[in-house]
This record gives sequence, structure tokens and C-alpha cells, in this order.
Amino acid sequence: MLTQLAISGYRSIRALTLGLRALNVVTGANGSGKSSLYRALRLLSETAQGRLVGSLAQEGGLSSALWAGPEQISRSMRAGEHPVQGTRRAGVVSLKLGFSTDDFGYAVDLGLPVGGPFPLDPEIKVEAMWAGQTVRPANMFAERRGPAVRLRRHATGEWRRLSTQLPPFDSMVTHCADPEDGLELLRMRDRMRNWRFYDSLRTDREAPARRPQVVTYTPVLASDGGDLAAALATIRAIGDRQALAEAVDDAFPGATLGIGGGDYGSVEMRQTGLLRPMSAAELSDGTLRYLLLIAALMSPRLPEIMVLNEPEASLHPQLLAPLARLLAKAAGQCQIVVVSHSEPLVEALRQGDDGATFRFEKEFGETKVDQDGGSSWSWPSR
Ligand SMILES: Nc1ncnc2c1ncn2[C@@H]1O[C@H](COP(=O)(O)OP(=O)(O)O)[C@@H](O)[C@H]1O
Ligand SMILES: [Mg+2]
Repeated sequence: MLTQLAISGYRSIRALTLGLRALNVVTGANGSGKSSLYRALRLLSETAQGRLVGSLAQEGGLSSALWAGPEQISRSMRAGEHPVQGTRRAGVVSLKLGFSTDDFGYAVDLGLPVGGPFPLDPEIKVEAMWAGQTVRPANMFAERRGPAVRLRRHATGEWRRLSTQLPPFDSMVTHCADPEDGLELLRMRDRMRNWRFYDSLRTDREAPARRPQVVTYTPVLASDGGDLAAALATIRAIGDRQALAEAVDDAFPGATLGIGGGDYGSVEMRQTGLLRPMSAAELSDGTLRYLLLIAALMSPRLPEIMVLNEPEASLHPQLLAPLARLLAKAAGQCQIVVVSHSEPLVEALRQGDDGATFRFEKEFGETKVDQDGGSSWSWPSR
């Protein structure tokens, strides 16, 4: 489980550390920075797939992704005595992302490219991985500074410098997991790769989930929800069939699910009062979205952490309480982060005891949170 998430200099997030629990709700007005947090988490996961630099370039490079306000907002700027303006930079240009879990932590620090053929690609300047919650020289077990990487030897605890020079766009997470001393790196990479993100479950008329599909073993719903029928069939076959039926009944009393059409099938829903089941193509946007959320959250192979961006979109208000129950139940088995601006959903999720609610606000263009749970975070130095 992730215990801390730290972001610095990314979009509207100048500096933020969150202490995470099993069920985390991030809320706030439009433009308060919720999606930036979602994207920061996804960038961390993409680091483990070798896509960190490419994804930042897709966003327009550091000139777009880097916090656009001043390095520090002085008291006189806040009081309105001075205009908000940049002063001479005291530190270097830097975008930092990091997290810690119960047993290890990782942080990456990106800066401006120095020359090079791809001006949009930021450079990875520093990476560190450490055992325990807080980075210290003594508990670091892998470190990268510019092109140089060193790993701590398993047997002796001494540092071993790798002979390879790492290019500025490659992360040590993907390129230095050598079997001799890089075992922790390898383990961490596999965990980060499995973080799961749902942002754009499609329910429009042309949505892939509405079309018949090959019904094959599918323990993980695709990010666009295109394999809904297969994912639901998999939950019925190897997951918690009973809980699935209960979740459907909780949201749509009296309704039952089926997979129609054989090997190449689609979801069918029987509802009270109707003489024939409705196929996925006929379901309302909200109903289909809810089934997609059920398939995502009841996956028989849950990840370490699942992150959902605005799952409430197009749901009828009546479905928010069942959704809160579904999320709370999933949070008993895997860590959940829900980004939402639906106050009823946020309220319904508050009841849980192992949860945290973060309310984002914009202050002088900067994302601020009402509770800072990560005061013990520190970044590895450049
Ligand atoms: N580089 C940047 N520096 C500062 N603010 C930014 C930067 N890029 C985007 N923003 C601002 O960040 C805000 C947060 O956007 P977003 O995370 O999408 O908000 P939400 O998801 O909460 O609606 C937007 O108002 C946007 O104008
Ligand atoms: Mg958003």
C-alpha cells in the first residue's frame, strides 16, 4: 500500500505531499488540480514501463508541465502588496514525483534538457530508491545521478557503481534491474507496473463495451472498458460470483446479468418489468458505466492500487450510494484513490474508518490541500 505521495513543480501542484490510506478521496472545484494528481500518479506508474519522459513530452514537455508560478509565493504577494512575479531562481528547474509504501520509497527528479535532439524531452537528473518511509543516505539501495547509477550490494551493503551510463531519458527502474544487486528494483518495477487507472470508461453510442466481443479469460478490465462482457464473465467464472450478483442487485434492485451470444457475446441485463433482457447496446449510459465500474472494482486480480478519475460522470444520483459501497468494499482488498467532484459521493465515502478525504483548493494558482498528511517526506538531493 502507498503511504505517501509527493509531487513538486507539476502543473498547478507546486509542492504537495499526501498521506494515503486504504480509501482515498480527492475532491475540489474544477481546475483545483485533481486531474494533475491523477496524472502524477500515472506518470509514476509509466516510469516502470519506460514511458515517463515520453508522456511528459506528449504533455508539451517541461515548458508546459512545470509549475508556471513563482518558485516561492512571498507573504507580500499573498497580501497583494506586490504583484505575483518570479524572482531570480534560487533552485534549479525541477519536477519531482515520489511515493513511499510500507517498505520502500522511490523518487524521480526531472530537469531541463541540456542540448540534445529532443527539446521537449525532460532529462531525468536524479532517482533514488530506499528502504522504509524516508530517504536517508543509509537506507538508500539504488541511486542515479545523471548517467551514473549505483546499487547497494546485497551481500556486503557496499555500493557498486554500474558500468553502464544511463541516457537522460531512461529510468533506472527499467534499465538497471540487474539480477545480481537490482532485485529490489525489479520487485518495485513489477509492482508499479500493475497500478491500475480508469479515466475514460466509454459509454457513448459507439463505446466498445456496447459491441459484441470475444468472451475470453479477462481478469483485468481494459482502460476503455471494451472487454466488459469478458471481464464480467471472468468474475462469474473465477471471481466472487455471489458478490457480483449482489452488487448488481444493490444498484438495480431485481436486475440480473447474463452474457448473451455465446463465444462472441455481449452483456445482457434482465430488469423487473421487462419481457426480454436488454443488451449492452441498449443500456443507458449510466447503467453501462455502473456495470463497467463493477467489472473494474470486482476484478479477480486486483492491483496494489486502483485510481479512478471522476467515476460518477453520467451516473444517476441514486447510484452514488451503491457506488460508495462498491468502492468501500474494493478498498478492503486493494488501495483505492477516487478523484471526484460529486459532493454526495464524497459524503457517502466519508463514513469508512480507513479513509482519507483531500479537499483541493486553488490559492494564487497553486493547488493547496486542507490536510497535509506527509510532513515526513523529503526529496533526495540533486
Ligand atoms: N504548468 C502549469 N502551472 C500552473 N498551473 C497549471 C499548469 N498547467 C495547468 N495548470 C492549471 O492547473 C489547473 C488544474 O487542472 P486540473 O488538474 O485539470 O483540475 P481539475 O481536475 O481539478 O479540474 C488548471 O486550472 C490549469 O489551468
Ligand atoms: Mg479533472
